[in-house]
Amino acid sequence: MSPERRSSFLAEHVDRLARTHLRELLKDTARGKRLRQRAGPILLDLSRQKLDEAALEALGAHVEASAWQAARDAMFAGEVINTSEQRAVLHTALRASGSQLASPAPREALDVIEQALQRIGALVQAVGQGDASDFGIAPGITDIVNIGIGGSDLGPRLAVRALAPFHVPGLRSHFLTNVDGQSAYELMHALDPKRTLVIIVSKTFTTQETLLNGGVLRDWISRAYEGDAKAVSRHFLAVSANVAAAESWGVPAAQVYPMWDFVGGRFSLWSAVGLSLALAIGMYNFRALLAGAAHIDDHFRSAPWHENLPVLLSLVELWNRNAQGRGSRAVVPYADLLTDLTSYLQQLEMESLGKQVSPQGQPVTQATSAVVWGSVGTNAQHAYFQALHQGTDVVPLEFIGVVKPAHDLRGNHDALLSNLLAQAAALALGKTFDEALAEARDGDESARRALAAQRTFPGDRPSTVIMLDALTPESLGALIALYEHKVFMLGHLWGINAFDQWGVELGKSIARQILPALDGGLEDTSAFDSATRALLEAIHARRTA
Ligand code: F6P
Repeated sequence: MSPERRSSFLAEHVDRLARTHLRELLKDTARGKRLRQRAGPILLDLSRQKLDEAALEALGAHVEASAWQAARDAMFAGEVINTSEQRAVLHTALRASGSQLASPAPREALDVIEQALQRIGALVQAVGQGDASDFGIAPGITDIVNIGIGGSDLGPRLAVRALAPFHVPGLRSHFLTNVDGQSAYELMHALDPKRTLVIIVSKTFTTQETLLNGGVLRDWISRAYEGDAKAVSRHFLAVSANVAAAESWGVPAAQVYPMWDFVGGRFSLWSAVGLSLALAIGMYNFRALLAGAAHIDDHFRSAPWHENLPVLLSLVELWNRNAQGRGSRAVVPYADLLTDLTSYLQQLEMESLGKQVSPQGQPVTQATSAVVWGSVGTNAQHAYFQALHQGTDVVPLEFIGVVKPAHDLRGNHDALLSNLLAQAAALALGKTFDEALAEARDGDESARRALAAQRTFPGDRPSTVIMLDALTPESLGALIALYEHKVFMLGHLWGINAFDQWGVELGKSIARQILPALDGGLEDTSAFDSATRALLEAIHARRTA
């Protein structure tokens, strides 16, 4: 990152801390205490970040001077903070029913949200009791397919998998996302069309991938009923803010569940977008997920900055990104149930924060979204951790652990947790050349020194540990809300709109222009650039070979 894009007000702290190894910082127990904070089921440990009390105070002064509380309150109250789309941002209102604090959201919004939750609850109960005919659904459903992409897929997918121990018996969940026909093909070969319920989730109901896959499954179910449209419609529900489009696609009005413009797709798990989750875990658990998120909403609204988990997480990200110049962050959950967390966070953080101008159209003065990547541990240790320990780039990590597992294989779980703790320690402490040399016994002096150099770990590599008491609907809701508010805070601190996503549009419109050239409906490709033309020609040549 160019130096001018780093935060100059933090420069003196960066310089001072460059001379202080994390080994030294970790000796200060008072510092450690400040950097470990709890909210409900979440313990956030920032003590392995390269921060001392003075740097933390500088970050605190920065956030306090930013009027963050007023910005936060404007979001909760439903002010139009997504200015490029002229929309309020009210995902917190979706879970206000679980909050201890009174919601400042507009009454009309709270009312339509509660009505939708009641509708979802009634449907979930009927499906659970085996007769949802009053909701237009065919009898004997055993498999539910959520068709959606981005925010209409990643949240429900993450939560359905994470909460597998809470699944109701007798219903299997599937997710169809990519427009790659392979996935639809495999599903159609695995499932019985007469026992499948398809939920088409699309806020806009214009998304190419979702509508194409919906059409493929509709044809498949239609073949099973020899074209009986009424019978086919009993296998479809839709979730959309564009009810008219869902109806004209063929889902009866009574089977369309609402979304609203005041909820962004990547923040929508808590709405009917979470229908497949509510069906999988039951309404009691779905409400518990909302309550867990609401607990963090209340915490975000009431805790001072130095105890406020979302604020602290955002300040650490700002520190690593803008003061230390780190370009990426690895997220490594030590929980197979959280396999989909990284891809969920990729959309939440990178679609929200990957911006380069302010809402006024001015270029930002600091770097914005880091690249978020990662996968579950311990697998990750055996793939890319070598580079994280000894590579030339420093990549901050986020470890996520669970204290109490949902199984009784204690030996496995202790091994899992010990690895998490060991990796965070090894990254921070490292191993000096002298320590490595003392271990190198074979060979002459020069061979021993060469080996020791290769077995030296620089350490001083920052990480965060997030520890959940257990992986439950409440704690998952809390964890996701924590990240949502961290994103909000970074949007605020970086002076960008975290709630639009114009950057995804250009590729979509070019794909629309290219599509006819692929299906043979466009002979003249001269409007395309030379690389696209050459690849189109190569595809055509191989197709006809
Ligand atoms: O293309 C990006 C995006 O608009 C995301 O923001 C959104 O979550 C996803 O597509 C799906 O959109 P929809 O729910 O309208 O189908």
